[in-house]
Amino acid sequence: MSTLRPLLWTGRHLRVLDQTLLPHEVRWLDLGTVEEVWEAIRSMRVRGAPAIGIAAAFGLYLGLRDEDAQSFWARMEELIRYLGTARPTAVNLFWALERMRRRAEALRDRPVEEIQEALLAEALAIQAEDEAQNRRIGEHGLRLLRPHMRLLTHCNTGALATSAYGTALAPILLARERGWPLHVWACETRPYLQGSRLTAFELKEAGVSFAIIPDSAAAYLMQQHRVDAVIVGADRVTSRGDVANKIGTYGLAVLARAHGIPFYVAVPSSSIDFSLERGEDIPIEERPAEELTHFRGIPIAPEGSPVYNPAFDVTPARLVTAFITEEGILRPPFPKALSALRSKLGR
Ligand code: MRU
Repeated sequence: MSTLRPLLWTGRHLRVLDQTLLPHEVRWLDLGTVEEVWEAIRSMRVRGAPAIGIAAAFGLYLGLRDEDAQSFWARMEELIRYLGTARPTAVNLFWALERMRRRAEALRDRPVEEIQEALLAEALAIQAEDEAQNRRIGEHGLRLLRPHMRLLTHCNTGALATSAYGTALAPILLARERGWPLHVWACETRPYLQGSRLTAFELKEAGVSFAIIPDSAAAYLMQQHRVDAVIVGADRVTSRGDVANKIGTYGLAVLARAHGIPFYVAVPSSSIDFSLERGEDIPIEERPAEELTHFRGIPIAPEGSPVYNPAFDVTPARLVTAFITEEGILRPPFPKALSALRSKLGR
């Protein structure tokens, strides 16, 4: 499978692949401060739910590594709050920060240097676990695929959105590795173009047969019986199985249901928010107007046009055929399946 890893710990910096410049420019940035990590998440140099969580964990460490014992605890709370403002929807951000907080709390009586070392180790563990989980998502997801399938996907859920391998792209990349002929319809994913810029980049590198389609072509392709399954990722899944994911996902789920096509959601457990039941309660990020009114700095709308630019939508659980997690495939009823998963994970 792809060896692309968009986040690397150098020993001093978090090295990230700047995804705002892909596919035409491959530029790595060395982030050495918590402010730089916050900016990289906010401006989507690092994006995709699992990658955001990993970056935030390293960001917290970077912000605390030079702190002395006196200021450490207050500064930690301040930075957890600060990093949490970078992007609101992907729960991985909050999950990773909470995990870092718990690690520090467990060592409260220890010297601050020891806590700082433990926080770096925890960030590295979050990253390594994500990679292992994505491999398992790939293996479980493969059981839902067959050679010659035509899969439709949205946004970017590949290695770029994670530590490695990706979530919804993981089974596809594994199928490719096994030599299965598959075809992927990659929705371009307006307005940020994660599909045409990033998913196409990854599928091309991996040698997977694919075509970029305008988001608006999905219904037409389904009507023509040219889609066998839809497979997407998630930024947050609630305890009853509602799914926040890139804007446009809900529309695809409605279309899939109307055409009798399975709709799969690949999700590591770090993207499941067991504390929320209702999808309506998930905070949905609104992105800047310029993402719609301009393209790479060039105006494409009348100056001053009002804009509404939600970055995510919520798909109700009833439209999901199955979740692909690192622990296996979850089938309805999802509240029960997710509650069993929660017990297994000890969360
Ligand atoms: O705004 P983005 O590019 O961060 O949104 C990413 C998505 O919506 C992905 O589908 C989701 O994070 C899952 S990635 C494994």
